[in-house]
Amino acid sequence: MLIAGNWKMNTDLSDGRTLAENIASGIAEAGSRFDSVEFAVCPPFVHLQAVGTALSDAPVSLGAQDVHREDEGAYTSDVSAPMLTSVGCTYVIVGHSERRQYYDETDGEVNQKARQAREHGLVPIVCVGETLDQRKGGDAEAVVTAQLDGALDGVAVNTADDLVVAYEPVWAIGTGESASPTQAQDMHAVIRTHLRDRYGSEGADDIPLLYGGSMKPHNAADLLSKPDVDGGLIGSASLEAESFLGIAERAATVLG
Ligand code: PGA
Repeated sequence: MLIAGNWKMNTDLSDGRTLAENIASGIAEAGSRFDSVEFAVCPPFVHLQAVGTALSDAPVSLGAQDVHREDEGAYTSDVSAPMLTSVGCTYVIVGHSERRQYYDETDGEVNQKARQAREHGLVPIVCVGETLDQRKGGDAEAVVTAQLDGALDGVAVNTADDLVVAYEPVWAIGTGESASPTQAQDMHAVIRTHLRDRYGSEGADDIPLLYGGSMKPHNAADLLSKPDVDGGLIGSASLEAESFLGIAERAATVLG
């Protein structure tokens, strides 16, 4: 079970460091309670190194929120995969709906980023999800599977540790209204089947499928207890150690 925090464009350096320290101390205090839970945090680029240092003794992986398709070059403001690995990143989020919405990121660009991540040994957290109109129009599955096909074309996945997929219905992100556990499970099952077709059942069954969109301590247990929900990509509830670890508590309980 992977519990990953997406801090988005939040926290200044001091807040980010404190948040990381609080997460580290909360996990340490929990002792063996969180042994079955894997953690990741994806702070803003500028805090990656400081947060990585704050978490150096904690079982929390570092992730970035985006990556450029090229290794280096004249791309003002962009950040490359070698830069991310050099500051200790394991994961990188690609294709978040906010990138698709505000920067018109296409499936083709998401694909280039996912490939670039893999080429540099980063694990892409590929985000997919439909809008409310698409769901109401009965197109949710078609949209999500098309996004998956677009994002994963040619992405080499040798083991289940090479990829994470996050189902994040756009209408649930930052709205306080999460998908129901049944809605999440239904779409995760569609994604699982799709991954099996692409990568074979052996690997695909273990690729972590995260649910994202208003996951909070109060709804996490019901979502995480669904068979194809292997964790959460958590936005606003990851900005307080208490709520982030509260979700991890629910994950630990679900896992028994
Ligand atoms: P949220 O964000 O938990 O604030 O809804 C989730 C995400 O966008 O990853």
